[in-house]
Amino acid sequence: MTDLIPAPRGVQGPWRRAVPLTEATALWAEPGTETAEHWLRATLGAALGLPLRPGAEDARDAVRLRLDASLGPEAYRLTVSHGSGVEIAGGDAAGVFWGAQTLRQLLGPEAFRRAPVGGRGAPYVLTDQVIEDAPRFRWRGVLLDVARHFMPKDGVLRHLDLMAAHKLNVLHLHLTDDQGWRIEILRHPKLTETASWRSRTKYGHRDSPLWEDKPHGGFYTQDDIREIVAYAAARHITVVPEIDVPGHSQAAIAAYPELGNADVVDTAALPVWDTWGINPNILAPTEAVLHFYEGVFEEVLDLFPSEYVHVGGDECPKDQWRASPTAQARIAELGLADEDQLQSWFIGHFDAWLSARGRRLVGWDEILEGGLAKGATVSSWRGYEGGIAAARAGHDVVMCPEQEVYLDHRQDPGPDEPIPIGFVHTLEDVYRFEPVPPELTPEESAHVIGTQANLWTEVLENQSRVDYQLFPRLSAFAEVAWSDLPDPSERDFSDFTRRMTTHYARLDALGVAYRPPTGPLPWQRRPGVLGRPR
Ligand code: ACM
Repeated sequence: MTDLIPAPRGVQGPWRRAVPLTEATALWAEPGTETAEHWLRATLGAALGLPLRPGAEDARDAVRLRLDASLGPEAYRLTVSHGSGVEIAGGDAAGVFWGAQTLRQLLGPEAFRRAPVGGRGAPYVLTDQVIEDAPRFRWRGVLLDVARHFMPKDGVLRHLDLMAAHKLNVLHLHLTDDQGWRIEILRHPKLTETASWRSRTKYGHRDSPLWEDKPHGGFYTQDDIREIVAYAAARHITVVPEIDVPGHSQAAIAAYPELGNADVVDTAALPVWDTWGINPNILAPTEAVLHFYEGVFEEVLDLFPSEYVHVGGDECPKDQWRASPTAQARIAELGLADEDQLQSWFIGHFDAWLSARGRRLVGWDEILEGGLAKGATVSSWRGYEGGIAAARAGHDVVMCPEQEVYLDHRQDPGPDEPIPIGFVHTLEDVYRFEPVPPELTPEESAHVIGTQANLWTEVLENQSRVDYQLFPRLSAFAEVAWSDLPDPSERDFSDFTRRMTTHYARLDALGVAYRPPTGPLPWQRRPGVLGRPR
């Protein structure tokens, strides 16, 4: 079998005969399949030097794209048939697009380049076969933290290409944190003028004695965001924005000190944070702060069509609220029991606000503390427990436990990673990750709408560091999210690693700086004080 990643549901063949792809190969696309049509011409055609000109449906050996309502959402059937050509039928436009991704994998690593390298693979041939495929989960996500280290827009677009190649379909963009604000908000210009830059940065883990003594920052203009969202949509990827409240907000407070608990700390003296960890400077629970963030979310909704909007809610220490007369008065006035309920009130406000606008709130599992907002979906990150509790209460869940799928965490138990942090998740660990915990009944399991790998960037200061942490583990994660794998102990990891041998050549052609299967190269090792296990 062809070494497809993620593995498809079923393959018949391959048989002996084949279909050639040549300069004369026509591309016929039924209305409604334009995303795949454009992608095939612009990306696959460019890689192979084939024009894939529009042609008649019955042209010999054409590539045909069509919709087939008998297939499910995102499902496709790819048929290669000598004399007839290649047909990709999809249950919807996304299905046809995922079928086009599979077609590229059938064509060898040259198909992953941006221009032809000449001679070697041509003429391209596809062996007769039928591939039937459909995803396991509808939320197959990756979180990119562009707040701790800014990823310039080109990197995000490249990341979307890498996601599409793996049939991943949700980019959770973590746009704000203590260390930086990354999205232009027209009505609050200081969020980018002030909050998007910090003067220096801790280098390595938070206990490292080293600093990078130069400013770091950047942000996406609203047109950048529109471009990212449109580029993602053309790849059937939804971008879910995260504006993290009420914790992880020191950058915003540095720009607008009135957002913080100014009755207990001198918020005017706070800089954009330059180190890592859980930060005590959280938002004040006032009407003015709610109003400020409604303004932020109004602009966010205009830019992001995603039904889901993430409001964070994680790691929000309540010490300032305990000490603050304003926060305490608020608790009394609302008749709340404690500060946890005050956070629930804060999140609940935005749950109602988003629902009234036809959107759905997603938050980290801390939003369970003090009572879960009515319409909330939970990103279960501190383990499975939050997700189990939420699913049992009838809420939807995205499983992304840090013990399993935080890909900034080290991938080897040895001392040889560039900056080893967190739990060890080897490639095999990720391959054996199971998003649906056995404790859930079938009805409760239906609330696990998907899974997500999270990449935080405290110690990932550039694209090669990001590549190194993501790959090859994101390839294993994509198979967990897409394929119909058996229980973890029965998964065929040796078959996966065999297929990865082919897949590494594809990643090479894409220019991905993955962790080599033998471990890091000597120059990639930066041991010592920079990192340490959790
Ligand atoms: C998180 O890792 N703080 C969601």
